[in-house]
Amino acid sequence: MAGPAWQRSHRVGTLTEAEVGQRVVLNGWVAKRRNMGGIYFLDLRDRFGLAQVVLTGKEERVGWSMEEGEILAPEDVLSVTGTVQVREQPNPELPSGQIEVIAERVEVLSRATLPPFEIEAESDANVELRLRYRYLDLRRPDMLQKMAFRSRFIGAMRNAFLRRDFLEIETPILTKATPEGARDYLVPSRVHPGEFYALPQSPQIFKQILMVSGMDRYFQVARCFRDEDLRADRQPEFTQLDMEMSFVEEEDVFAAWEGVLQETFREAMQVELPSTFPRMTWEEAMERFGIDKPDTRFGVELQNVSEWAQSCGFGVFEGAVQAGGRVMALCVPAGAAAYSRGAMKGLEKRAKEFGAKGLAWWKPGESGGGAGPVAKFLDGAVGQSLLESVGGAEGDLLLFAAGPKEDCWRVLGELRLGIGRDMQLADQEAWNFLWVTHFPMFEWSEEDGRYTSSHHPFTAPQDWAMTSEPAEMASRAYDLVLNGWELGSGSVRIHRQDVQKRVFELLGISPQEQAEKFGFLLEALSFGAPPHAGFAVGLDRLVALSCGLDSIRDVVAFPKTLQAVDLMCQAPSPVQPDQLEDVHIALRGE
Ligand code: AMO
Ligand code: AMP
Repeated sequence: MAGPAWQRSHRVGTLTEAEVGQRVVLNGWVAKRRNMGGIYFLDLRDRFGLAQVVLTGKEERVGWSMEEGEILAPEDVLSVTGTVQVREQPNPELPSGQIEVIAERVEVLSRATLPPFEIEAESDANVELRLRYRYLDLRRPDMLQKMAFRSRFIGAMRNAFLRRDFLEIETPILTKATPEGARDYLVPSRVHPGEFYALPQSPQIFKQILMVSGMDRYFQVARCFRDEDLRADRQPEFTQLDMEMSFVEEEDVFAAWEGVLQETFREAMQVELPSTFPRMTWEEAMERFGIDKPDTRFGVELQNVSEWAQSCGFGVFEGAVQAGGRVMALCVPAGAAAYSRGAMKGLEKRAKEFGAKGLAWWKPGESGGGAGPVAKFLDGAVGQSLLESVGGAEGDLLLFAAGPKEDCWRVLGELRLGIGRDMQLADQEAWNFLWVTHFPMFEWSEEDGRYTSSHHPFTAPQDWAMTSEPAEMASRAYDLVLNGWELGSGSVRIHRQDVQKRVFELLGISPQEQAEKFGFLLEALSFGAPPHAGFAVGLDRLVALSCGLDSIRDVVAFPKTLQAVDLMCQAPSPVQPDQLEDVHIALRGE
C-alpha cells in the first residue's frame, strides 16, 4: 500500500550518482539556502547527510508560497519530490556532492522558528544554550554521528558478550543501597511510610547473587546513579557495561574483556587491538608513574633517588630521607629549553596545588652547576652521580619531591601528566590499555576515623586468611586503564560468608548493621556460592575516549550540568504538596 505523497523514497545523505535520472522523494530539514537570481539552492539534511535541492520556481508548492513572501526558513521540515541529476559544480566534500535534485514538488511538513544557534558541524554556542536546546544540539551532524557511534559500539559489545555465552539480565532500579563510595539517590515509598528505596550505584550485589543463582555468566548495559561531585568524566547517572563470571579468577576476566574489546574495536572502529593488554601491580604503577591509572603512552617515569639524596649535602633532601620519607625525581628529556624561568614558576605553582612544600628543580650545566634553586648543591661529583643514576644529561630538566612517599607519588605523578600535555609527549594514535592489579584492600579515612574499602567491601583479599595489618593488605581488585583514564574496575569477590563478615568487621560495620544492610547477601553466601569475579566498564568514558573526546557529556544524549541539573526539562524541580503528602514527606521550609 502506498504511503502519503510526502513520504520519502530515499534517505537524503545516501543519494549517489547511482540514482541519476530517478524520481525521488526526500524528507529532511532545511540546512542552507542560496538565492541565485530566482533560482533557489537548498541544502536538505537528514541523519545520513546533506543533498542539494534546486528550486526553479516551477515546482508545485504545498503548504507555502513564495509569492506571499513566505519563503522557506532554516530548519523547516520539507518533503521534496524531484529528479536526480549530475551537478554542474560538484562538491567533493559530500558523499552526495556529485548530484542534485531538481524539485518538482515541495511540501512544508513543519515550520521552524529561528533556532538560538546555527545547526552546523562545529558549534561555538555556549554549553548552557546547547543543553537547554539539546534537541537542536543533537541535530548537529557531529552529535548525530556520536550517538550513532555509541549505538554501534554498544551493539558490538553486546554481541561479543552474547557470543561468549553471557546472559543479559536486568537488575532492579528501585532497590537497596549498594555501596560504591558515593551518596545514594533515594526514592520515598508511598506504601511504606518513612521508608525509601535507593537507586543502585551499581548492580554489584545483584550480579553476585546471580552467580549464587547459577547464572554462570551475566552482563548488562546498566544505568548507575551516584550523588557525587561532578567533573568532566562523571555524571550523576551513567552507564556501565557490567559483568560477572563464576568459577574464574583474574586472568579469566582479563581474557574475556580483551576478547570483547578487540571484537568491539574491530567491528565498530576498524581498529586492531593487541591480543592481550599489559598487567602491572598497583605498587609498580605508583612507583613508576605516581598514579594508579598510568598514561603509558610516554616515559618520564618517577625515580627514587633517596639513596643518593641521603648524603647529597642539601638539608631538605637529607632531612626527608632521615624522617623516613623519600626524595623522588622526574628527569624530563630536553626539558630545560621547554620550560623557561617563567614556566618553572608555573610548575612550582602546580606542585603546590598538589600539596608539595616546594619544588626543587635543576637544569644541569655542561660541567656541573647549571640552573635552578638546588644547582649550587649539585656542582661536581654530587651532580654527576645523580645524572648517572637517573640517566640524565645537559639539556634535561630534573624535578624533585621530598617527603612521605605518598606525597612524592602524588606531586610528581601530577607534574608528569602536566608535562606530558605541555610537551605533547603522548602518541595521539595509541590505544594503551593496561590492567592494574593488587590494589590495597583498605584505605584509612581520617574523616570517618575508620578503614574504608579501596574498591568495595565485596572484594576478596589476596590472602583469604587475612593475617597482615589492614593497612598492608592487598586485594584482588583490578582496574582497566586506557591512555591514563580509569575505564573500569572489578575484583575477585568474597564467596565465603566468614571472610565477608570479617571484612565488614574491619570496616567498622557492626553485626547489627551487617544484618540490616547486607543480611540477604550474607545469607545467600551460605547457600553454596561459587567462586566468582567480575568487572564493569564506564561506557560513557569508553565511548568518549574512542571518539577522541575528553568530556563524557558529548556522548550522553541528555546529560546533566556540573550542578546535576537537566537544563532542558529543568530537573530537579519542586513538586505539588499532595505528591509530597502521598510519600509522607514534609519539607522543613528552608
Ligand atoms: P566502579 O565504581 O569503579 O566499579 O565503576 C566502574 C566504572 O564506572 C565508571 N564510572 C562513572 N562514569 C561516569 N560517571 C560517574 N559518576 C562514574 N562513576 C564510575 C568508571 C568506573 O571505572 N561494581 C563495581 C564494578 C565491579 O566490581 O565489578 C563498580 O561499580 O569508568
Ligand atoms: P629552601 O632551602 O627551603 O629555600 O628550598 C630550596 C628549594 O627546595 C626550593 O626550590 C624549594 O621549593 C625546594 N623544596 C623545599 N621543600 C621541598 C620538598 N619537600 N620537596 C621538593 N622541593 C622542596
